[in-house]
Amino acid sequence: MSKKADRKASAETTPAAPAMGHNPGASVSAGPGRTMNPPGETRIAEVALDDVGNIFRLEHINLRIPDQTLGTIFYVMGMGFTRDPHFVVGVDNMWVNVGETQFHLPHHQPQVLRGWIGIVVPNLDGLVAQLSAVEPRLKNTQFAWSRDRKGVSVSCPWGNKFRCMLPSAKYPGMRQGIAHVQLNVPLGKAAGIARFYQQVMDTPVTLSARKGLACASVDIGGNQQLVFQETDAAIPAFDGHHIAVYAGNMSKAFAWLKKRGLLLEGLIRHQYRFKDIVDPDTGETVFELEHEVRSFKHPMFLRPLINRDASWSAASFSGEARPVPSLQWGT
Ligand SMILES: [Fe+2]
Repeated sequence: MSKKADRKASAETTPAAPAMGHNPGASVSAGPGRTMNPPGETRIAEVALDDVGNIFRLEHINLRIPDQTLGTIFYVMGMGFTRDPHFVVGVDNMWVNVGETQFHLPHHQPQVLRGWIGIVVPNLDGLVAQLSAVEPRLKNTQFAWSRDRKGVSVSCPWGNKFRCMLPSAKYPGMRQGIAHVQLNVPLGKAAGIARFYQQVMDTPVTLSARKGLACASVDIGGNQQLVFQETDAAIPAFDGHHIAVYAGNMSKAFAWLKKRGLLLEGLIRHQYRFKDIVDPDTGETVFELEHEVRSFKHPMFLRPLINRDASWSAASFSGEARPVPSLQWGT
């Protein structure tokens, strides 16, 4: 049973805590007019719902693109993201901020993630207006978009797929950002992938079935997910794209990977890399996805990221009704 399912089952079988007031003597005063929740009346299962695993944040996705101008038109003008003003500000690479997360877009042959990326955006109407405005500049590429009742689906000029959604309780505390990465994996591989993230990365995983096909959902930091969905469709060969994550415990997974010769890169500036997801039960490589694993001592951990309000224009930023700046979200 997955940790999440285990928590749910535990919550359902744990006797209900006595109602507040059954033991008034246990109340602790927290100052005039306030009473703290008595510790004896909080169930452990309730607290466990706030647990997170060893992977704290999926910070960036690195996708090479062959044209920085088209990349700017799509990611900055169309999607409304913000070019990082501090790093790689030239024409060979571009870091693009999306809330507290990023896309890294080095100049090279294009890479395409084998699935789709879920993005929380603050304003779907604004997104649609932006995407409409860049359509003429992106014709004759794979750029496309459509809106339905729940969100906006977008394809970048090179075929990467995005699903844009408004903030919700599913992604607590996220006003904008990369909330979800879904990867298509071959039939029969989800369980082995789940064991890797549970046993090697020490991260909660939920195994489920969607339309009869297994799915492993990895919890990241309480408001992000890395999802591996089995499919019977053909899956392109891995092209080298990568994700960057922050981990609390670095050495356990490092030792496991090192022992099996699976490290792509040793520790450099508080980060290391691997790409083979290996089933710890069988030793089989069940999927490939390059991970850049960073520690909390990494110099860019919780670095404040600048985010603009994409709804602003020279016309709207004038007069008495001009919006209040909100340039920095997060820390
Ligand atoms: Fe990276």
